[in-house]
Amino acid sequence: MISLAVISLASLLYSVDSSLLTVPQNPKISGGVNASLEDFPYMVSIRLKALESSTGFGDGFFCQGVLTSPRSVLTSSDCVLNGSGPRTPEELGLVLGTVSRTNASGAIAVEPEQIWINHDGRVAVIKLAREVLYVRPVVLNEFQQDGGKQCILMGWGANSTDGKPVETLQEVYVRITKEKCPQNLICARADKENAGICLWDTGVPLLCDGSLSGVYVGKPNHCGIEIEQFASVRAHWDWIGAQIAAANGTNHRSAIWCLLIMSLLMTMQNVTLSTQYPTMNK
Ligand SMILES: *[C@@H]1O[C@H](CO)[C@@H](O)[C@H](O)[C@H]1NC(C)=O
Ligand SMILES: *[C@@H]1O[C@H](CO)[C@@H](O)[C@H](O)[C@H]1NC(C)=O
Ligand SMILES: *[C@@H]1O[C@H](CO)[C@@H](O)[C@H](O)[C@H]1NC(C)=O
Ligand SMILES: *[C@@H]1O[C@H](CO)[C@@H](O)[C@H](O)[C@H]1NC(C)=O
Ligand SMILES: *[C@@H]1O[C@H](CO)[C@@H](O)[C@H](O)[C@H]1NC(C)=O
Ligand SMILES: *[C@@H]1O[C@H](CO)[C@@H](O)[C@H](O)[C@H]1NC(C)=O
Repeated sequence: MISLAVISLASLLYSVDSSLLTVPQNPKISGGVNASLEDFPYMVSIRLKALESSTGFGDGFFCQGVLTSPRSVLTSSDCVLNGSGPRTPEELGLVLGTVSRTNASGAIAVEPEQIWINHDGRVAVIKLAREVLYVRPVVLNEFQQDGGKQCILMGWGANSTDGKPVETLQEVYVRITKEKCPQNLICARADKENAGICLWDTGVPLLCDGSLSGVYVGKPNHCGIEIEQFASVRAHWDWIGAQIAAANGTNHRSAIWCLLIMSLLMTMQNVTLSTQYPTMNK
């Protein structure tokens, strides 16, 4: 219990990133401002390898995802389906480590190994062929979000209906709305006109209190202040957790870390208990 409390307190402190609380200068994906890698290191751009290799770095971009553990990426199922069925892992290229879509400097390319699609067809988890080390994964947010709450979106989608995907990752503030929001979804809308989800924003993460509350599902055919629907992390909590664990599962290094942390926590509990006994005896 003590160790659990320590873990959740730590993850809570971790999830509230003060840099997320600053208001963008010009809140305009459309209507956004340049985002920084320090704020969103876990952002993944998803590319079609065939288009990448034939034309150039960034041209195959079509979707976003987020790193949820060293071995897993969460995205919209629309990013892993191609109309006739699931894509093969070999078709997809995942890139993180940069806010730029086209400049390969600093980019970390990761190979997908396996794709799992949730039974409701909304979200998907991509198991990575190798661990992504030294990149902070996103913290998952299982809390219900109140209407009116300010959250944030980020993506490389276009900034206007006739636009192309942008060069630099954009971020924009939105507010949670309960209006016409179906069950198991979380809905949000930008405060300003001409801001919010735009073309190529499928898989965009919705962050509330600095942690992941939703994933944009559907293929946007418009840009701007409409109410947008996100698959709720809360509603998919168990499934997402199970996939992340399964992606971790075959990894011996993680298992060793897990054992190390568990024994450390047990030792901590012993220390706490032994320091408590004397005071109880007084
Ligand atoms: C979807 O992917 C399959 C297998 O990779 C391929 O055979 C098919 O042509 C693709 N369909 C579309 C519409 O791209
Ligand atoms: C790519 O990014 C690197 C590092 O930020 C920079 O030095 C370089 O000039 C950029 N290249 C282009 C073509 O913009
Ligand atoms: C969209 O981005 C392009 C550069 O990628 C920029 O030239 C243009 O002004 C932007 N449009 C809007 C409406 O912000
Ligand atoms: C945003 O990034 C673009 C490069 O994609 C750069 O040209 C522009 O100056 C940046 N805008 C701001 C406000 O830093
Ligand atoms: C997956 O492994 C990482 C460390 O490798 C750990 O932080 C995380 O808690 C694990 N997740 C699950 C669901 O087991
Ligand atoms: C904790 O204390 C118990 C009883 O004193 C002992 O048997 C156990 O080995 C200790 N565990 C660790 C991890 O130190």
